[in-house]
Amino acid sequence: MPSPAPSSSGLVDQFNRRIEYLRVSVTDRCDLRCVYCMPEGFTDFEEPADWLTFDELERLLGAFARLGVSRIRFTGGEPLLRRNLPELAGRITRLPGIRDLSLSSNATQLEKHASALKQAGVSRLNISLDSLRPERIKAINGRDAHHRIMAGIEAARVAGFSPIKINMVAMAGVNDDEIDDMVDYCISNGFVLRLIETMPMGETGRNASYLDLQPVREGLQARFDLIEGNIGHGGPARYLQSRDGRFSVGFITPISQHFCDTCNRVRLSVDGTLYLCLGQEHSFNFRPLLRAQASDAELEQAIQQAISLKPQRHEFVEKPQQVIRFMSMTGG
Ligand code: 5AD
Ligand code: SF4
Repeated sequence: MPSPAPSSSGLVDQFNRRIEYLRVSVTDRCDLRCVYCMPEGFTDFEEPADWLTFDELERLLGAFARLGVSRIRFTGGEPLLRRNLPELAGRITRLPGIRDLSLSSNATQLEKHASALKQAGVSRLNISLDSLRPERIKAINGRDAHHRIMAGIEAARVAGFSPIKINMVAMAGVNDDEIDDMVDYCISNGFVLRLIETMPMGETGRNASYLDLQPVREGLQARFDLIEGNIGHGGPARYLQSRDGRFSVGFITPISQHFCDTCNRVRLSVDGTLYLCLGQEHSFNFRPLLRAQASDAELEQAIQQAISLKPQRHEFVEKPQQVIRFMSMTGG
C-alpha cells in the first residue's frame, strides 16, 4: 500500500533517491568482537557525554519523520547494551509518521529484553548469526556466546517477532561450509536467511576473508529449488524463495553487485553524526545544533542540507583502504 505523502516533498538527494529509512546506532559498544568488525582490545569508544540522549534522539528523529522518514532501525554496536532501550523504542514508535521500528541485534541480551521490545512496538528483528557451532561462534564472534545467542533467538520467537531475519556474514574457508546447514535451520524455524559479503570497513573488514556470493546464490537456487523472490523494501538484499513462499534467502552483495542506485537510507551514529554512505566519509554532525537549542525549522533545514551531501555510491572495490571506521561505529 502506498504510504501517505509527508507534508513536505520528502527527502530527496542529488541523485533523485528518496531517503525514507534511517538507521540509528544507539551505542558503539558491543559484547562481541566479530573478526570482521571490532578488533580485540579496541577502546576508542565515544564518551557518554557525547551520546545523544533519549530526548535528543526523540527530537531529531521527530524532525526526520516530519520530512518523510517513516522507517527506523536501531543498530549498534549491540543496541541492547544501551540502557533502557525499550523505553526509547516506545518513544520513537509514538512519533507521528513513524510506521516501522526494527532492531538489529547479536541476540546475546535478547532473552532479557525481547518481550519489552515487542511491547514497545518494535516489529521486526534482524539477528547476526554466523554459525550454529559453539566453537565457531567463539572463533568468529570472539566470545563463547553460543548458549546466550540461542536463548535470545528463542525468546524472540516466543515474543512473536515476525519476520525474524538471520544475518550471516559468509566468509571463504571460515563458515562457507555451513551455508546449507544455515538454510536448513532457517527453513525449520521459519526465519528469513540473509547472506552478507564482508565489506572493507576498517582493518578488520579488510582482513576478513571475502566470499563472492554470486556462485553461492546459483548453487542454493538449484539445490533447494528456489525461485526469484518478490519480498523486500527496496533494501539491499535480493531474495530467492521456495515455491510455496514460506522460505526466503536474501543476498547482500555490496562488492560483487552494488546496489547504490536505489539506496534509500542514511545512518546516525551515537554521537549525532549522520553518515550518508557506509563506504564514504561524508557526514554531518547534529549534536552541536541539538545542544544549542536549535529550532525545529533549523533542524529540518540541516537535515535537508545533510542529505544533499549523500554521495552517488560507495567505492569499496576501487578504494578499499578508504573507510577507517569499523562497522560498529556506523552500525551495519
Ligand atoms: N562486512 C559486512 N558486514 C559487517 N558487519 C559488521 N562488520 C561487517 C563487515 N566488515 C555486519 C554484520 C553484523 C552487523 C551488525 O554488521 O552483518 O551482523
Ligand atoms: Fe558487535 Fe555486531 Fe560488530 Fe559483531 S558485528 S562485534 S556483534 S557490532
